[in-house]
Amino acid sequence: MFKKLSESIKNRPVIGWAIFAFVMVAVFMLGLLAASITERRAEIATLYANKKIEIEGINPKNEEWGINYPRQYDTWKRTKEMNFTSKHLGNTKEDMLESRPNMVVLWAGYAFSRDYNAPRGHMFAIEDVTNTLRTGTPDHEHKDMQPSTCWACKSPDVPRMMEEKGIEDFYKASWSHYGADIVNPIGCADCHDPQTMKLTITRPALIEAFERQGRNIADATPQEMRTLVCAQCHVEYFFKGDNKYLTFPWDGGMTVEDMEKYFDNMDYKDWTHSLSRAPMLKAQHPDYELFLVGPHAQRGLSCADCHMPYKSEGGIKFSDHQITSPLKNISSTCQTCHRDSEENLLKYVYEYQDKALEIRNRVEDELAKTHIMAKAAWDNGANDKQMEQSLQLIRQAQWRWDYAVASHGGAFHAPVETQRILAHSLDRTMQAQLELQKVLYSLGIQSFEMPDISSKDKAQEYIGLDMKKFKSEKENWIKNTPPTWLEKAKQEGKIVASR
Ligand code: HEC
Ligand code: HEC
Ligand code: HEC
Ligand code: HEC
Repeated sequence: MFKKLSESIKNRPVIGWAIFAFVMVAVFMLGLLAASITERRAEIATLYANKKIEIEGINPKNEEWGINYPRQYDTWKRTKEMNFTSKHLGNTKEDMLESRPNMVVLWAGYAFSRDYNAPRGHMFAIEDVTNTLRTGTPDHEHKDMQPSTCWACKSPDVPRMMEEKGIEDFYKASWSHYGADIVNPIGCADCHDPQTMKLTITRPALIEAFERQGRNIADATPQEMRTLVCAQCHVEYFFKGDNKYLTFPWDGGMTVEDMEKYFDNMDYKDWTHSLSRAPMLKAQHPDYELFLVGPHAQRGLSCADCHMPYKSEGGIKFSDHQITSPLKNISSTCQTCHRDSEENLLKYVYEYQDKALEIRNRVEDELAKTHIMAKAAWDNGANDKQMEQSLQLIRQAQWRWDYAVASHGGAFHAPVETQRILAHSLDRTMQAQLELQKVLYSLGIQSFEMPDISSKDKAQEYIGLDMKKFKSEKENWIKNTPPTWLEKAKQEGKIVASR
């Protein structure tokens, strides 16, 4: 073949020149490509080298990090947007007690029955914890309702204050004690080391939970870190002991049953239900724990794969820091892996969520009724011994319900596990009703009437909350107290002057 080629070139030299020209062009193009690759790498490297300011220690001021990393900062700022709703979630504020008044009864005797909204973007973390009725109106007249531990997942000022005051002393203070210190919303210093920009764990509770399990979080791979930074906050937790030490209940395992056993073994309850008098557990938001047993985690995905997809701008690839519903932008989330239409992908998510909701609706109706049945039994003279078994079943049923629904993404992250947990919740609920039916019969009660709890207002009135008082006190407090915190923070240079 080569012989033939050289003969052809001899006969018609133009062929030789054509080949030469082609090779030259190809080499030139390859050179360009190589240059652009190294240039892009260099650009990313220089991103770090060209830091405009040096960030020292734990710096909670997101605006200052933004000078060095404008793309990440600009997308992070968009967590304050409230412009997207999917079928069930999104980045807007939803009054959950208004939407689902049964929840008022389920939480009777606990601050959640006063006020509970669906989560929105990270930018609102401080504003929302400050304005909720659950933190009350601590001032010279009123006591704190919450410990400082409540700040733990709201701000990069938390690791700063922990370093300054010590971890234990930080938790055991009252919530309002740090009102003028915890002032910057969830941001860069929660997840990044300022020198290397590597992901880092800033919350002791996660490091300690790993240690008690015999694991070292420093061994985590970079891909695992893209999940673990979220697991600092999006997990089940409780405030342990009189010092309210933030603790993850994972010592005996990380399933809903393992954690229940952990709480049972230490005879722990979050509160006594004011209607049924059952010893209750409040589940927080076990997003990480449920995610772990779902199909995506088991294929090695991280939270950031869906909630912080890559974006491209001027040839620079970076992580979108607008952490929100991945359904807001399916082409850069799901469709980077799935060759499926947007319509189908939405359908998968909604189908999982709708099916979980079917069981959830049943549980909430029946479980609210169960608390009210138990109250009827007490009101008619039931004794502790008669009630013991039903109250245990109520505790177990509600722990499972809360675990499944407080993990807001759970119905998609781990659809089968979420259904399993809700099914066990419904089972325990109906068992409790059977037991209570027996108690009621033995007390000579043939039937009992359900109160009207069809709206938030009616349900709150039924459980005896004076909402008018709470709301007007809070309104006054919001006008008077938080502005003084902000003013003090500004004077002390804890927030940037431009805010
Ligand atoms: C909730 C955690 C979290 C917060 C808050 C956060 N980041 Fe990130 N950041 C990440 C994750 C996860 C990645 C991806 C890292 C990886 O893939 O190794 C990342 C990546 C980066 C990178 C590397 C380049 C890139 O885009 O992938 C930079 C720079 C960065 N973040 C800057 C910031 C700045 C500036 C802020 C504050 C305005 C911030 N981050 C807030 C989690 C966070
Ligand atoms: C320092 C604690 C903390 C860390 C770290 C954290 N979150 Fe959050 N996250 C919160 C809080 C608190 C809220 C609710 C804020 C509100 O409603 O005011 C929230 C809200 C959210 C929401 C709802 C947003 C919306 O638009 O409705 C999503 C999704 C979310 N986080 C995902 C993540 C992911 C993914 C990570 C890791 C990359 C992460 N979070 C890291 C504390 C944290
Ligand atoms: C495979 C993609 C994927 C991964 C990986 C993933 N999520 Fe999600 N997440 C979703 C989807 C889809 C939803 C539902 C969004 C909707 O309905 O609008 C969701 C919902 C959520 C919500 C509720 C948001 C709201 O508005 O209430 C939170 C919080 C959340 N995820 C956190 C996490 C955390 C933390 C991790 C890692 C432990 C994680 N997610 C991993 C896809 C993912
Ligand atoms: C980083 C890659 C990646 C992303 C991003 C991703 N997925 Fe997946 N997804 C996978 C893999 C891998 C599997 C397992 C596929 C298999 O085993 O056939 C999977 C499985 C699924 C399944 C089947 C679940 C099951 O029970 O086995 C559904 C439904 C799904 N994904 C929907 C989504 C949706 C919706 C999104 C966006 C919110 C999304 N995925 C984002 C990689 C991804």
